[in-house]
Amino acid sequence: MGRVVAPGSLWALWLVPVALATVYFQEEFLDGESWRNRWIPSTNDSNFGHFRLSSGKFYGDIQKDKGLQTTENAKFYAISSRFKPFSNKGKTLVIQYTVKHEQKMDCGGGYVKIFPSDLDQKNLNGKSQYYIMFGPDICGFDIKKVHVILFYKSQYHSNKKPIRCKVDGFTHLYTLTLRPDLTYEVQIDTDIIESGNIEEDWNLEELRKMEKSALKMPKNWDKLSQNDKPSDVPSQDWDKHFLDASANKPSDWNSELDGEWQPSLIQKPKYKDGLKSENVDNSDYKDVWLHQKIENPGYLQDFELSEYENIGVIGLELWQVRSGTIFDNFLITDDENYAAEFGMKTWGRTKFFCLFL
Ligand SMILES: *[C@@H]1O[C@H](CO)[C@@H](O)[C@H](O)[C@H]1NC(C)=O
Repeated sequence: MGRVVAPGSLWALWLVPVALATVYFQEEFLDGESWRNRWIPSTNDSNFGHFRLSSGKFYGDIQKDKGLQTTENAKFYAISSRFKPFSNKGKTLVIQYTVKHEQKMDCGGGYVKIFPSDLDQKNLNGKSQYYIMFGPDICGFDIKKVHVILFYKSQYHSNKKPIRCKVDGFTHLYTLTLRPDLTYEVQIDTDIIESGNIEEDWNLEELRKMEKSALKMPKNWDKLSQNDKPSDVPSQDWDKHFLDASANKPSDWNSELDGEWQPSLIQKPKYKDGLKSENVDNSDYKDVWLHQKIENPGYLQDFELSEYENIGVIGLELWQVRSGTIFDNFLITDDENYAAEFGMKTWGRTKFFCLFL
């Protein structure tokens, strides 16, 4: 059945919500050598390899296909570019770029790293703490994988499901999408290669097991009525607060006048290693909180898994045995459609031309 739009309701078309993409970072290297003002090479090691702007030995468009190319064999590389810091809390995060290993990659990284804004760019090195590492890594016959490493609770967590990367010498488009509902997607050349739930597909079981084994059912938990279990507390407050389990209902409490009694919420102490509470003698405190967090399905999902504050730098920090890799068309946005369009506009065009080589 066709869709009929009566002339009188045409105005409604103007009300169709148009999602406005926020583009946090976009780099196509279209302005000659000006990229050097935007990309800061690290001087942490004087032996770092150098990047140059190049479209390589073959290309669709010699100007548009120029990107950052590694130029020296058997070197570490470290370079980064800064943008206005943002938080992806509650928003989709898309990280996308193209990479071409035209040198027949034998061993080396082709990934990007996303850093907090306080990164000291001039000192960028292998130990610099990052939030996300994403992209292909190739070494010999064994390693041909796409890394998706997420920083969570002071540790790096790798994706469990192996994702195979492209190993040929053509330009490929890599796209990582992290959504606020904890689903993710990895695309290569716009094909969805892997997708699922972050909680299930990352190596987080150890962390979870330890959290669960630390649990003890608080003695009074069953006696707490549904009203006492503070389901109406906004979930983000549960990250900072927990029930004062030691509190007793005051003897002069009058439910008629004062309402249902509820233990007060106390500020949650800082957790060391994300597990142990500090300065808390009464272990019931954290038990109540953890119990609530784990048993109540509403709080089961830990949305912090892929939430980052002050995302502010993108960098290439990697090792290459044989150089020649070209990185281009970097994009960080909150909009999947925009990323798809940008991918087709950049990689799509290159691919089209390369078909005729
Ligand atoms: C390189 O970085 C490391 C770690 O941040 C630091 O200890 C070292 O002093 C730096 N080296 C130089 C030459 O800046």
